[in-house]
Amino acid sequence: MIRHFLNLSDAGGDAIAAMLANAMDRKAARAGWPKGKVDADAPLAGHTLGMIFEKNSTRTRTSFEMAIKQLGGDSMFMAAGQMQLGRGESVADTARVLSRYVDAILIRTDDHAKVEELAAYASVPVVNGLTDLSHPCQIVADLLTIVEQGKPLPGLEVAWLGDGNNVLNSVVEAAGIFKFNVRIAVPHGYESDSAFIDAANASGAQITLTRDASEAVAGADIIVTDTWVSMGQEHAHNKMAAMMPYQVNERLMATAKPDAKFLHCLPAHRGEEVTDGVIDGPQSLIWDEAENRLHAQKSILLWCFGKL
Ligand code: CP
Ligand code: NVA
Repeated sequence: MIRHFLNLSDAGGDAIAAMLANAMDRKAARAGWPKGKVDADAPLAGHTLGMIFEKNSTRTRTSFEMAIKQLGGDSMFMAAGQMQLGRGESVADTARVLSRYVDAILIRTDDHAKVEELAAYASVPVVNGLTDLSHPCQIVADLLTIVEQGKPLPGLEVAWLGDGNNVLNSVVEAAGIFKFNVRIAVPHGYESDSAFIDAANASGAQITLTRDASEAVAGADIIVTDTWVSMGQEHAHNKMAAMMPYQVNERLMATAKPDAKFLHCLPAHRGEEVTDGVIDGPQSLIWDEAENRLHAQKSILLWCFGKL
């Protein structure tokens, strides 16, 4: 059985818990080392990760390149627009061909169905590096960042503010897996995918929707937001106006628990979804969160290769 990682549920709770533990161990074991030095056990020596990007990336591309390098393997970056994929070669044929050259394929694209098709025709593991539907790799890093703070996942109170997007869908999926609660405050018309919410609620999480940002944040342990305009979306004036009451600013943060933490997957649009005072403030974990992309990707790759 090939281990694809298209959504968090492909791995499930036990495997994600193992990923988090492995990521913390590996992170601690190489503290202070040069970033390009290979981990002592080089568990993916000889393995190459092919990476197809149809959308921009800073963190996902560089953290996966460094992740496989630190595990002893190699990566290959492919801009979709420079591939025959960009001229109409089918996803299925691309999957069949790349499977003959590389040991795993990461793809960042728009339509989630493309990732599913790639996985259906690939004979090597496929990793979702973000689609319009979900961003599971980001959420493994977010869970790692939360667990590092000593906060247990079950029963955690998470508040999401702003747009109901791909990152939120994966937060909600994680809530269903680890039984934590998410209070979503989004404006009318910008709600997230109801299938993720229904599944999480059916699994014992409590996912609630409010139009009131303060209600979402009251008593929250973790406050999360993301850009109001995701890649591929139009920068509509009426959307920006609708989002403004959901900005994470100092006044809103003051209504959360005193030890509440702030997360943002980045890139941030300072002055829009978050103010400088919050993102640069003492409750923000964004740089640890960004670093943890690297440590999380390593454990995701190890799981895909059956080494976790
Ligand atoms: N958070 C995240 O996925 O960042 P990039 O778009 O830079 O990869
Ligand atoms: N929701 C954002 C996340 C970027 C990492 C987007 O899809 O553009």
